[in-house]
Amino acid sequence: MYKRQHRSRVAESRRLTLKSWDYGNLRVDTLIAPMSVLTNVLGLLVAIAFGGSGQGVEQIVVAFTYYSNATQIMFEFNQIYRRLETSMTEAAQFTELLLDPPTVLDPAEPEAPAPRDTGIRFEAVTFAHAGAEPIFEGLDLEVPAGARVGLVGRSGGGKTTLTRLLLRMSDLDGGRVLIGGQDISRLRQADLRALIAYVPQEPAMFHRSLRDNIAFARPGATDAEIRAAAEAAHVTEFADQLPEGFATLVGERGVKLSGGQRQRVALARAILRDAPVLLLDEATSALDSESEILVQDALWRLMDGRTALVVAHRLSTVAGMDRLVVLDRGRVVEQGTHGDLLAADGAYAKLWQHQSGGFLGENAEPAPDDSPPPAAPTALPEPDEPAGART
Ligand SMILES: Nc1ncnc2c1ncn2[C@@H]1O[C@H](COP(=O)(O)OP(=O)(O)OP(=O)(O)O)[C@@H](O)[C@H]1O
Ligand SMILES: [Mg+2]
Repeated sequence: MYKRQHRSRVAESRRLTLKSWDYGNLRVDTLIAPMSVLTNVLGLLVAIAFGGSGQGVEQIVVAFTYYSNATQIMFEFNQIYRRLETSMTEAAQFTELLLDPPTVLDPAEPEAPAPRDTGIRFEAVTFAHAGAEPIFEGLDLEVPAGARVGLVGRSGGGKTTLTRLLLRMSDLDGGRVLIGGQDISRLRQADLRALIAYVPQEPAMFHRSLRDNIAFARPGATDAEIRAAAEAAHVTEFADQLPEGFATLVGERGVKLSGGQRQRVALARAILRDAPVLLLDEATSALDSESEILVQDALWRLMDGRTALVVAHRLSTVAGMDRLVVLDRGRVVEQGTHGDLLAADGAYAKLWQHQSGGFLGENAEPAPDDSPPPAAPTALPEPDEPAGART
């Protein structure tokens, strides 16, 4: 069914392209290009025919040069017109996109945000991505106010989808999401998102300066505040190496930064935002273990007194949290502390054993054959360390 939808979309877009004015004029283009060569040849022949009798070669060359310059200019006019046409066609496509009405709407009579605390509750949540099977069916999950909860599980389990539902990027098909007892669909979207500092799995960067990229998390922040956030997220370390420091432009979508540098900018945004709920989706996954330990220190400080939901594949990132939730194919299959889950010897224990056995890609290099496997992955909080100890 998915395939059929995709095919019909491709066919529709092809039909529209073929119908467009721009494409229709391609035929004119194919005619005009050889014609301009033909006219020039004709011009040369005419010059020779008329000038052949008494005129010298110089006159013929001068006459032909004038002639070919004139046809060249006419041809360029045609090019300008074609460029204009192409831009218009592209603009029309974008306008169509903008005319698509948004599906997530503010309620007609929004409630004022008055959460009694910052606890999060997913109540019997049912949700399906457009055109796909439901991913959540009656999911219940609670993150008590002030708690730090780690969300782990296999790729495609629905972790990112869950974080996006909390931000109300999509509406539910059933159930409710509450923050501090308030249904998030009763709030204005701007009010809801003001409660949350979010670091997405793939943070978006704008082609502006490094400073602007951080500052946009809280318009009106002072330079000192921005600098402090950048320092806490270890952005300053690489920013100061750049030729223009914080004024360096980061390139379209941040192409001039490495993956780990982009993540640190995203973390600086979250720190600057200073919101009561912290939502991190693989926020430190692209950092090497050493930088992760440094950045995590800042994060643990940030989480103090806030409610945090933290998604991570690298289990050591979340092992020290108050509670871990294992999500698989949209269902909570296990939850408890790191110690509880190891003792239960279930899905989490299996994942932990995989990673602590020198999981390739986690620790770039395999453990030497004769050395015993390390007891735990390298970027720690110590697994048995109480959750608050690092703050
Ligand atoms: N925009 C979308 N449209 C349709 N299906 C989607 C969309 N986003 C995600 N999915 C599907 O929903 C499921 C859950 O995806 P999700 O991104 O939530 O997984 P995840 O647990 O975050 O995985 P990962 O650990 O790889 O980030 C996947 O099967 C995915 O294919
Ligand atoms: Mg994800």
